Amino acid sequence: MTKIDKTKPIVLVLGSTGQVGKLIVEALSYDKEVRVRVTSRRSEQVEALRQRGQDAVYLDLDDPHTFAGALAGVDRLFLLTGYTVAMLVQSKTLIDAAKKAGVQHIVHLGIFGEWDCTDPHFAWHQMIERYIVASGMAWTHLHPNYFMENLLGIAPLKDGVFSMFCGDRRLGMVALKDVAAVAGTILREGSTKFAGKDYWMSTVALNGAEAAVILSKVLQQEIHCDYKQPEDLGDLLMSGDIPVEPNYAEASVEFMRQVMDGRMGYIGSVRDDVQFVTGKPSTSFEQWAIENRDRLIPNK
Ligand SMILES: NC(=O)c1ccc[n+]([C@@H]2O[C@H](COP(=O)([O-])OP(=O)(O)OC[C@H]3O[C@@H](n4cnc5c(N)ncnc54)[C@H](OP(=O)(O)O)[C@@H]3O)[C@@H](O)[C@H]2O)c1
Repeated sequence: MTKIDKTKPIVLVLGSTGQVGKLIVEALSYDKEVRVRVTSRRSEQVEALRQRGQDAVYLDLDDPHTFAGALAGVDRLFLLTGYTVAMLVQSKTLIDAAKKAGVQHIVHLGIFGEWDCTDPHFAWHQMIERYIVASGMAWTHLHPNYFMENLLGIAPLKDGVFSMFCGDRRLGMVALKDVAAVAGTILREGSTKFAGKDYWMSTVALNGAEAAVILSKVLQQEIHCDYKQPEDLGDLLMSGDIPVEPNYAEASVEFMRQVMDGRMGYIGSVRDDVQFVTGKPSTSFEQWAIENRDRLIPNK
């Protein structure tokens, strides 16, 4: 049986069954510097994770009664919320509980927003950031732009065509493995080096046609982008095919509107802090496409 070293800091990773959190846990799993604790809001999953030898705890962000037990002994917290306006109450209550539990450092997964932006879901994340700062705990704010993995999820490639919902505007993007590498490094090394810092992750900026050229090369077939409008995204998200909380869905449409009309033109820019944190260059879109070739075209 492995002996637990109680002198090492405990890192609690929220959302460890989701796409970002899962990669962070992987990034930290062979780490000798910290002890990783994962959470789930399903008891059977907590049990299954424990069977696999993980320090797993039950935590439901909608139920503050579950916070104290999950936070006991935690030194560093990775705060991730899902695609919902409930993130406001979830984060407020969890930050309060973290303070009471003696958490030293919060690393928050936010958005790539200018301070005065008016898009709702960006504003929610910014309110959470300010609340973290006001808590007095050490903090690090992460600002990833559009995940490259969205090209696999919302409107995946089909018959050589994929969709972008901001016309021919450029979107800045980042590969999830880079987000996880940045978060993992900060959680491993802690607040001495990283407290009070903001890190921006928009490592490449492409419009649909530019992305299509790269995808055509990697997948060795003609790929085209279907330039859609923000309202098309609204129709898709409200169709019921993709389970999305309505407030977040509306905010996503507003995001695309503001990218198109220029209020959020900066979304199409590059600002790459990945190497400053990890020491390694970020992933190009071409490299990402190569690594995800099978997921882009499942039958290839
Ligand atoms: N997509 C983008 O381009 C983009 C860009 C920048 C920032 N973001 C931000 O990224 C965040 C989402 O990250 P993601 O893509 O990794 O999300 P995700 O894949 O949807 O995963 C969400 C995670 O949160 C957990 N969760 C949801 N509700 C919970 C609750 N009530 N209690 C406990 N756990 C709960 C889920 O657990 P279950 O397994 O139980 O569901 C899951 O592990 C959002 O805050 C979003 O604003 C996204």
